[in-house]
Amino acid sequence: MRFSRRMDGLPPYLFAEIERKIAEKRKQGVDVISLGIGDPDMPTPPHIVAEMQRQVADAANHQYPTNRGTDEFREAVAAFYRRRFGVELDPETEVFPLLGAKEGIAHICFNFLDEGDVCLSADPGYPVYTSGPVLAGGEPYPMPLVPEAGFQPDLGAIPEEKLARAKMLFCNYPNNPTGAVIGEGDDFFARLVEFGRENEVAIIHDNAYSEITFDGYVAPSFLETPGAKEVGVELFSLSKTYNMTGWRIGAVVGNAEIISQYWTLKSNMDSGMFAALQKTAAFALTESQECVREMCEIYRRRRDLVVATLRELGIAVEPPRGTIYIWFPVPDGYTSASFAEAVLEQCGVVVPPGSGYGPSGEGYVRISLTAPDERIREALARMEELGL
Ligand SMILES: Cc1ncc(COP(=O)(O)O)c(C=O)c1O
Repeated sequence: MRFSRRMDGLPPYLFAEIERKIAEKRKQGVDVISLGIGDPDMPTPPHIVAEMQRQVADAANHQYPTNRGTDEFREAVAAFYRRRFGVELDPETEVFPLLGAKEGIAHICFNFLDEGDVCLSADPGYPVYTSGPVLAGGEPYPMPLVPEAGFQPDLGAIPEEKLARAKMLFCNYPNNPTGAVIGEGDDFFARLVEFGRENEVAIIHDNAYSEITFDGYVAPSFLETPGAKEVGVELFSLSKTYNMTGWRIGAVVGNAEIISQYWTLKSNMDSGMFAALQKTAAFALTESQECVREMCEIYRRRRDLVVATLRELGIAVEPPRGTIYIWFPVPDGYTSASFAEAVLEQCGVVVPPGSGYGPSGEGYVRISLTAPDERIREALARMEELGL
């Protein structure tokens, strides 16, 4: 076979590698506890499942869906954004469905990047911020996120030569993997709008975790920032919001020109999304959000459990105010990879190495709070026993 050169540029997908290791260990009879992938262990709320059952049974949903997205879905997203963020969106021109935020991240790169073009990507960051640009034939430039700067990129430190070729930027708050959030009074989004405008760089803000927050913190939308809609879009996802990772639905919202380009791209790639799913997603966004509050409370409890145990182990860690992740520095004498390896080999516990999220993730690992409390407790007990 003669495969394309662009495939050579792709690193192996982090979680594909981790899944392979888990399977290997389980074959050896090890009771593996995965605190790896951020895939909620809890089911989709029953009222959403029941609505999907109704929609699946409706023959009107059985044909090719409209590529543009159903009116119900686009209007529900716009209404959600108005209610939740105070952001006005035109459902006709400023909302488009995604087969999950991941699909949006990968495909939007094709709207912006030609050979030689640069995508500014958060480092550490969701791996597709790097592989998406590579697939599109562009060049990702990692912007380091460090704790001293609140895990926000230093926009002034991007080398002139990269900036001149940059056409898009990926960032994400509440942040995977660091758990960082945009704090009250923080002007980062305003600086981002300014940066996008001055440098003609499209800002792609990934808001996959906006609803997963704790301690009274309410995450903003990037689009709340004056001028944001002129420079970019936001990716919203129902995956973590309603424990719907398997359903594959999200939306890209904001700048109408970008969304029009995205529609053109997508209408040449797939034939839209199952209408039953879009209508059910509209229902989820519109109905009571009590299920989201209950879910956040479960994650908060798990967060506190993990943070308290890590501190007992002498690991410096701050409780995050958002996301489902605890990001912490590995103990002295370890690299990210050697610590993750030791935890897997000696405790049968999977934690992804921070280096898998980009060079600036070296020295960290991430724990995901998406396992039942007793499994998290068991994993921590195994680590404690070995003094890890
Ligand atoms: C930052 C970030 N963006 C996007 C995604 C993918 O979300 P979706 O399930 O909507 O594709 C994830 C999933 O873990 C994520 O962490």
